Amino acid sequence: MKVLLLGSGGREHALAWKIAQSPKVEKLYIAPGNAGTDTVGENVNIKATDFPALKTFALEQNIGMIVVGPEDPLVQGIFDSFKEDDATRHIAVIGPSAKGAQLEGSKEFAKGFMERHQIPTARYKSVTSENLDEGLAFLESLSAPYVLKADGLCAGKGVLILPSLEEAKKELKEMLGGMFGDASATVVIEEFLSGIECSVFVLTDSQHYKVLPVAKDYKRIGEGDKGLNTGGMGSVTPVPFANDEFMEKVRVRIIEPTINGLREENILYKGFIFLGLINVQGEPMVIEYNVRMGDPETESVMLRIQSDIMDLFEGVHKVNLNTKELVLDTRTAACVMLVSGGYPEAYEKGKVITGFEQAQDTDSILFHAGTALKDGQIVTNGGRVIAVCSYGDTKEEALKKSYKVADMLDFEKKYFRRDIGFDL
Ligand code: AMP
Ligand code: GLY
Repeated sequence: MKVLLLGSGGREHALAWKIAQSPKVEKLYIAPGNAGTDTVGENVNIKATDFPALKTFALEQNIGMIVVGPEDPLVQGIFDSFKEDDATRHIAVIGPSAKGAQLEGSKEFAKGFMERHQIPTARYKSVTSENLDEGLAFLESLSAPYVLKADGLCAGKGVLILPSLEEAKKELKEMLGGMFGDASATVVIEEFLSGIECSVFVLTDSQHYKVLPVAKDYKRIGEGDKGLNTGGMGSVTPVPFANDEFMEKVRVRIIEPTINGLREENILYKGFIFLGLINVQGEPMVIEYNVRMGDPETESVMLRIQSDIMDLFEGVHKVNLNTKELVLDTRTAACVMLVSGGYPEAYEKGKVITGFEQAQDTDSILFHAGTALKDGQIVTNGGRVIAVCSYGDTKEEALKKSYKVADMLDFEKKYFRRDIGFDL
């Protein structure tokens, strides 16, 4: 089968690496991809949200399956666009319908969904400029810190956590006044939950599901989880506190009500569900839903999936995922993200990356995030540059290997966190 993968980050390089290993794949294209994806497939210069161009390409090349990496095309309705078109209906699309993608595309929808299906999550109130007074009163009923979330997609920047009531009230008004444009015309105010977070990934065909390895990511730029939020600075899987007892609670209280809830609401969902969970004294609660895999969690999670991922995707498409086997590697996988100095604020691009030959002699695996090929050299092309991933019998061993390679690779103003996994 010919496969088209959409996206261009480290997550997509990891997915491409795994997809390309399948004997079922005759040819893998990545749109638009990066310098890493081009080594396991062929990049195609089409944006992941340009549906007409993707359809033309898919028909010309006789693509059998589209795997969607990022959320934007899903929220914009790529699944429906292919399924509603007679010419492209036969192509498998791994990802939810637009309605299903609202679990990530609208915080208000996600909270309402959890309320309707009694899925444990923080208490909340959804506010617009029409009921600002109710929002201010709800803030007064909570204790510090205060959580404000823009309803719509904001490229990971739409959540504010504020230490004082005064600041929370001020920021609420600014958000409603257009801080994030239309995305914050509605704001969800939430009770603050305190605990340790983890990322649970579920693959579903709308009737059955498989739970993929649980991972933890490290979002802050600084060591000790200090400083600004980033796309993610590293990840580790498995997560020791997500033991059988905890995961049984996750399955019964969160995963099954989510899948059953989608079915009851006639929401077609054939793809990944990413549960951003928090462990509140042993009880799992949902912080957020995403409708895709996580980045950089995917970079370590893919290392631990031994089964043919295309076989699982075929199960999703044909709604017989229950007949497929998910075999996991019991080792630990850890990834360390190398980023451009200055990220997540202003940073420079186009820096030559060296050390690939040396890194090749190790058993670590490199997934490119923001890289590009320029005059035959690999250069930096984003904030997050390369994820260095390794296996180990323990977390310490996996990280030690990744840090060794993180030191071998170099570019001007390279930065990475040296404390990934510190809290596990
Ligand atoms: P997001 O941008 O939606 O991934 O959220 C960013 C981060 O905000 C999450 O990973 C959590 O660390 C934090 N967060 C979101 N909601 C809450 C909450 N209700 N209580 C505590 N922390 C939260
Ligand atoms: N690593 C978190 C995310 O992908 O949203």
